[in-house]
Amino acid sequence: MKDRFGLETRGDPRSVEALGEAVAALYAMRPEAMGHLKTAASDPDCALGRMLGAYLGLMSSERGPGAAGVARMGGIVAADAREAAHLSVIRAWAAGDWSGASRRLDDLLEAWPGDPIALNAAHQLDFFLGDAGRLRDRPAAALRAWDGAAPGFAYLHGMHAFGLEECGDYPAAEAAARRALDAAPDDVWAQHALVHALEMQGRSQAGQDLLDARRADWGHDHFLKVHTAWHYALFGLETGEADRVLALHDATVWDGGPDPLAMTLIDSAGLLWRLKLDGVDAGGRWDRLSDEWALRDEGAWYAFNDLHAVLAHCGAGRLERARALVERMAEAAANPDPAATNAQALRAAGLSAARGVLAFAQGDFAASVAHLAPVRRQMAVFGGSHAQRDAWQRTLLVAALKGGQAGFARVLVEERLAERPASAWSQARRAELDALSR
Ligand SMILES: [Fe+2]
Repeated sequence: MKDRFGLETRGDPRSVEALGEAVAALYAMRPEAMGHLKTAASDPDCALGRMLGAYLGLMSSERGPGAAGVARMGGIVAADAREAAHLSVIRAWAAGDWSGASRRLDDLLEAWPGDPIALNAAHQLDFFLGDAGRLRDRPAAALRAWDGAAPGFAYLHGMHAFGLEECGDYPAAEAAARRALDAAPDDVWAQHALVHALEMQGRSQAGQDLLDARRADWGHDHFLKVHTAWHYALFGLETGEADRVLALHDATVWDGGPDPLAMTLIDSAGLLWRLKLDGVDAGGRWDRLSDEWALRDEGAWYAFNDLHAVLAHCGAGRLERARALVERMAEAAANPDPAATNAQALRAAGLSAARGVLAFAQGDFAASVAHLAPVRRQMAVFGGSHAQRDAWQRTLLVAALKGGQAGFARVLVEERLAERPASAWSQARRAELDALSR
């Protein structure tokens, strides 16, 4: 039968309907997606429902939940070319060939440009790969290919906005995000794109005001709630409100409670590390965070997660733990298999970024600069967003300042201010440099 997106989909009609509900909820990042998915995936004939379950496991970014999702999918014999294409993507992704999965998604979307499952998975994978071009271009293509009346069409603008932002086109990102929010005020991904555009221009007050004014649209339960709260705290950090940022961390990012998502730990580590760079002690939060990362040490699956674990271990002063993890990352980087995407990311920048943070924690600022500076323009390769990776850019700048490399620090500060003229944090670093040269 045809699903609500007009694509041939096999399964009991109720399962296919539930799958459509799940996909529509995913575009809005609403948690009820999981209930609908459960209904769809419980039908052995609804192969795409079971495959969507596998995708969601892989989209956790963690090896364990990814493998569990693929195991739950079970053995599926593809009944048509689209199912076979999805299976091929899932197998590549689960095997660690994330770049191969991305190329397979190119092929899939060329053949079925209106496939909402493929586009949703691709957008998340592009984010994991720090692939700004595909983050922008896949939604741009979908905006042209999809029927404007298709469920979820309005959300394509928000996806496009995020890609434009990651490509550095902030005015276009802002315009696309505002267009998306006009069409769908509950579009938390479009709001997130707008927040990123403001963050990258150092417009922290505008960002705080936006999130305050729109709280009714994002304060409910959704997949991006913690991460949006993280962005809100980042705006406060920019203006040096450390106590308030710590309070926001505990109340809205992670309170130290059990079983947090990897994304929550990433947000917590990224925020606390920035505070540490500003000379603020986060106390026992670091120990809890370091222990939680240690519990889910998966042996180098995704550099971006491991890099945040290194921040946590270093923040907690557990340098032996940090050193051991960096050593495992070095072993993973040596994997010569061209299909091992994580190894490539580690070799290109991830391992140097991890070593730069470890050196910083050891107080060896010259070594920190020596590790971080050569890869500072390649960091997108280990994934996440510009705003998230700014933790390593800031580390480099603070290491240069602390290590007495005033000339290089000046270059970094001026580059930051050229992009973010309104950034209070960057202006404060420039003032530090000015004081040094007096
Ligand atoms: Fe973000």
